Amino acid sequence: MHTFKLPVISGLFGFALLGGLWAAQPAPPVPKVRQNDLAPLPATEKAAATHAPFEAGDCRLCHQRADPASPGPLTGPVNELCLSCHDDFQKIVAGKTGHAAARESCVSCHNPHDSRQPKLLVDESATLCLSCHETIKNFALHSPVKHAALTDGAKCLNCHNPHGSEVEKLLVQLPLNLCLTCHGKDDVTDHDGRKLTNMKKLLAENPVHHGPIASEDCSACHNPHGFQNFRLLNQEYPSTFYSAFDLRFYALCFECHETSMITEARTATQTRFRDGQTNLHFLHVNKAERGRTCRACHEVHASKQKHQLRDSVPYGPKGWALQLNYTKTPTGGSCAKTCHATRSYDRARLPEEKK
Ligand code: HEC
Ligand code: HEC
Ligand code: HEC
Ligand code: HEC
Ligand code: HEC
Ligand code: HEC
Ligand code: HEC
Ligand code: HEC
Ligand code: HEC
Repeated sequence: MHTFKLPVISGLFGFALLGGLWAAQPAPPVPKVRQNDLAPLPATEKAAATHAPFEAGDCRLCHQRADPASPGPLTGPVNELCLSCHDDFQKIVAGKTGHAAARESCVSCHNPHDSRQPKLLVDESATLCLSCHETIKNFALHSPVKHAALTDGAKCLNCHNPHGSEVEKLLVQLPLNLCLTCHGKDDVTDHDGRKLTNMKKLLAENPVHHGPIASEDCSACHNPHGFQNFRLLNQEYPSTFYSAFDLRFYALCFECHETSMITEARTATQTRFRDGQTNLHFLHVNKAERGRTCRACHEVHASKQKHQLRDSVPYGPKGWALQLNYTKTPTGGSCAKTCHATRSYDRARLPEEKK
């Protein structure tokens, strides 16, 4: 059985990787409240939202006096007031599943009277979120690779519930389903106009799901808020079919897999992809120039063959599908009419035997 290392990136390490700009700084604490100007808008200004009890004109619904010119203090703590009418929010914001900001004060985000923003928000919604979440702000605004999910449609609310959720991290759905709601279509294109794989279809049509996908964790490899690496990958991985070899370039894979499968030219144990003791992972990948990247043989999301082996690989700028025609045998396997003529490997082959 192969052994696996535990994933080791912490938010802070990932943060440090992001251009090294904030390398030495710890993430700033997230404030629990936001100070806002909560006075009603001047009568001359048109509000995008007006709160029903304020519109009713009876300031005593929340304040001690009816006089609009001087309504005086509130009749109780803010959240108690809000929840006395919005009792359906009590359960959502309370406890572990609630957003700390909502538990602390509804008026960090809502104006109790009226607002220039819909839903009585004190600011445009993403700006509001980012005003407290500095770490996410750096990813969202300063990452070389950006994720349109943060700027399209409902922005942060595409994925998060601002008040609370049964799903961890305030997600509106289980993480994998969440990603597949958008990545379950054929027409999603990246920033260069390249069509992105329909992941929902890929996972449905290819039953062998890679470990972290089987545990429904897309974030094990992708940073949903933006990152410096190709495809939002949270560790380095070459973007091309060929690459010079350096363990650093494959930090993504070796966060979980043992490096010895690729560093030793000869081995009797470290990989099953070997002919006798000749390590074929080393032979294909570990080259000073033009080593094949893992994608030449593996599909990291899902495949039909065992070991995440792909049926075909997109080759060249036009993405011509090069077939692998892989066949497994009890002690090895073979690839036919692929990058080379049919070749086989056999782990049981003795050192002196010739192919
Ligand atoms: C739904 C409850 C509610 C109603 C109704 C309401 N208010 Fe308020 N009001 C608040 C809350 C909450 C605050 C913020 C108090 C705080 O932060 O301590 C506030 C604060 C204010 C402030 C001070 C703003 C600031 O930033 O310091 C003014 C002025 C005010 N209200 C006027 C009114 C007037 C006038 C009415 C009636 C026409 C009214 N309010 C009705 C809830 C309400
Ligand atoms: C006296 C009862 C009452 C209190 C107290 C109250 N609300 Fe409301 N609130 C309402 C009603 C009624 C509506 C309109 C209901 C609807 O549209 O479904 C509403 C609507 C809202 C909306 C949606 C506005 C929109 O444009 O869609 C928000 C946000 C809101 N309230 C926040 C608050 C906050 C924050 C507080 C505490 C400061 C609060 N409410 C206190 C009765 C109340
Ligand atoms: C972190 C910011 C934030 C806090 C704190 C917050 N809300 Fe909201 N709230 C939002 C946003 C954003 C929306 C708009 C959601 C949307 O458009 O789907 C919203 C929408 C609402 C609505 C309208 C719901 C609807 O379906 O139209 C109500 C009512 C509401 N909030 C009540 C509250 C109450 C009560 C509290 C305090 C317990 C609270 N909110 C605290 C951000 C916040
Ligand atoms: C007033 C400041 C404030 C605002 C505004 C705010 N948050 Fe938060 N948020 C917090 C705090 C405080 C925590 C708890 C942080 C912690 O435990 O480290 C938190 C935690 C979170 C978490 C992690 C929850 C978890 O279970 O670990 C998410 C996700 C989140 N916020 C999303 C949002 C989104 C989306 C918005 C905009 C709708 C938003 N926040 C607006 C203060 C804020
Ligand atoms: C495409 C979906 C998606 C969008 C859009 C999105 N997030 Fe997230 N967010 C996630 C996921 C998934 C996680 C959990 C990541 C994990 O567990 O590593 C998360 C985690 C978080 C956390 C908790 C971070 C932590 O380390 O605990 C915060 C805070 C947060 N998001 C804020 C935001 C804000 C603010 C926005 C808008 C600018 C936003 N998110 C937009 C998917 C999204
Ligand atoms: C609200 C829709 C939406 C959701 C939800 C969403 N995405 Fe995306 N994603 C997009 C769009 C649109 C693009 C293409 C534009 C772009 O690259 O930003 C994209 C692009 C990507 C890319 C390629 C980025 C690049 O430019 O190379 C990756 C990887 C990705 N998403 C992963 C995820 C993961 C993982 C999740 C779940 C945490 C997720 N997405 C959830 C809309 C979404
Ligand atoms: C084990 C790490 C890993 C996990 C887990 C993972 N991905 Fe990926 N993802 C990658 C790598 C590596 C690439 C780049 C593939 C390539 O170009 O060969 C990629 C590429 C993508 C792309 C761009 C596809 C394209 O057509 O170029 C999308 C979209 C994407 N992933 C979404 C997801 C979603 C959704 C999930 C969860 C279901 C997920 N990923 C889980 C590693 C992972
Ligand atoms: C030339 C094709 C090829 C390339 C390139 C390749 N692999 Fe493999 N890999 C295989 C084959 C074939 C197997 C299945 C061996 C068996 O079980 O017979 C395999 C098996 C594996 C295994 C299972 C454990 C083992 O070593 O037997 C892991 C993990 C793995 N590969 C990771 C990687 C990573 C990471 C990369 C890139 C750094 C990579 N592979 C590049 C062909 C390849
Ligand atoms: C977050 C951890 C994680 C990351 C990152 C990761 N893997 Fe995996 N990988 C796993 C787990 C868990 C398994 C399943 C182990 C098992 O079935 O024995 C697995 C299985 C595999 C297998 C099949 C092994 C077999 O014996 O059948 C291959 C091939 C593979 N990974 C390649 C890769 C490549 C290539 C990358 C980098 C692009 C990568 N992995 C990144 C965790 C990870």
